[in-house]
Amino acid sequence: MKIGLDSIGFYTSRYYLDIEELARARCVDAAKYKVGLGQNRMSVAPPSEDPVTLGANAALQALEGTPREDIAALLFATETSVDQSKAGGIYIHRLLDLPSRCRVVELKQACYGSTAAVQFAVALVAREPSSKVLVVASDISRYGLGSPGEPTQGCGAVAMVVSAKPRLLAIEPEHGVHTEEVMDFWRPNYRQEAVVDGKYSARLYTQVLLETFEQYKRESGRGLGDIQHFCYHLPFSRMAEKAHAALHKAQLGAAPGSKTLQVQIGDTLHYNRQTGNSYSAAIYAGLASLLDRSEQPLEGRRVGFYSYGSGCVGEFFSGVVQPGYRRDLGSAARLEMLSSRNALSIEGYEAMFNYAIPTDGSFLEIPIHDVGRFRLAAIRDHKRIYEAVN
Ligand code: COA
Repeated sequence: MKIGLDSIGFYTSRYYLDIEELARARCVDAAKYKVGLGQNRMSVAPPSEDPVTLGANAALQALEGTPREDIAALLFATETSVDQSKAGGIYIHRLLDLPSRCRVVELKQACYGSTAAVQFAVALVAREPSSKVLVVASDISRYGLGSPGEPTQGCGAVAMVVSAKPRLLAIEPEHGVHTEEVMDFWRPNYRQEAVVDGKYSARLYTQVLLETFEQYKRESGRGLGDIQHFCYHLPFSRMAEKAHAALHKAQLGAAPGSKTLQVQIGDTLHYNRQTGNSYSAAIYAGLASLLDRSEQPLEGRRVGFYSYGSGCVGEFFSGVVQPGYRRDLGSAARLEMLSSRNALSIEGYEAMFNYAIPTDGSFLEIPIHDVGRFRLAAIRDHKRIYEAVN
């Protein structure tokens, strides 16, 4: 039985800061951000967007054409949760009118949470093949104004329906996985911004890639040449290029040429360059980017996935693109969404970054912004009030 991704939705904020604008304000050569990190724009969430609204908008796309009553579980992966107790997915469950006979839970392991959710969804569908599971990965990345991580900030959400007879991608069972307790990136409960040792984190990311790929190779009997495209976790786009070069060197003794690099990962990077880091969503935003942007049909091609969540858990696995995947893909809406966003000035970005909500239970009506179909409208008695827009 094939099990895998039946549909995909991707959504990011309607506001962005051009990375050259940030470089000017921080007195840094723009080439460092554009070439050195591979970023062009940074998505900025207005006060009325949070991981719940971003996720609900992505889920709305992913559910198009899927009867709501088919969804037996909603797995919400985030590391920028809006509540310590209640799963953010429960708000999405209501906003999207999902059936009450539906399990909802939130998962967290830094940027790896989404891959845990996908693998758990596959297991749930294997037990009950007539059911479908909605996976939503959604995050807003924050490192702090003027910090080394600032140019990699961003936000976004990806939603995927996992089913038997998947229309987009059949997930293969072989995988490599590595867990190790390390402190490369974390965010204590009292902090709004992550604490990160960026260089150490990038080294671990690469080491764990090499280890998990070896495991995957042993288990599957497949090598690098059996995989045509690679979706990497994308803290910034250049991280994928560097990791892919390291994987080639370890497996084949030499780094890939620029043409090979372009064919194998080029199309996966486009959305990340426009949004910045979306943590748990980033790797699957790479998949949406590949499916939407590839000029060559991808039917029958194998895609390798490397998911890395600081702290850390890494996993390498693969999937095969299904015949007819383009039929209901919905690429046009995503391309239109990305090309019709609002540019912010540096002052506009900093004002959104610094916007704070009350922590004493007092009422706050959130200003109106350009958003998708859902928004955070107010805070009342410590409750977040979400509503559908138009
Ligand atoms: N033109 C072109 N490239 C330039 C440049 C210029 N003028 N100036 C610097 N660069 C390059 C550097 O050579 C480097 O590339 P390299 O690693 O291939 O050598 C890259 O730009 C980044 O420069 P660096 O000095 O290393 O940046 P930094 O120390 O200010 O911060 C991170 C980089 C990634 C550590 C930082 O953005 C960060 O902490 N990010 C968040 C955490 C993260 O992304 N972790 C990754 C694993 S999940």
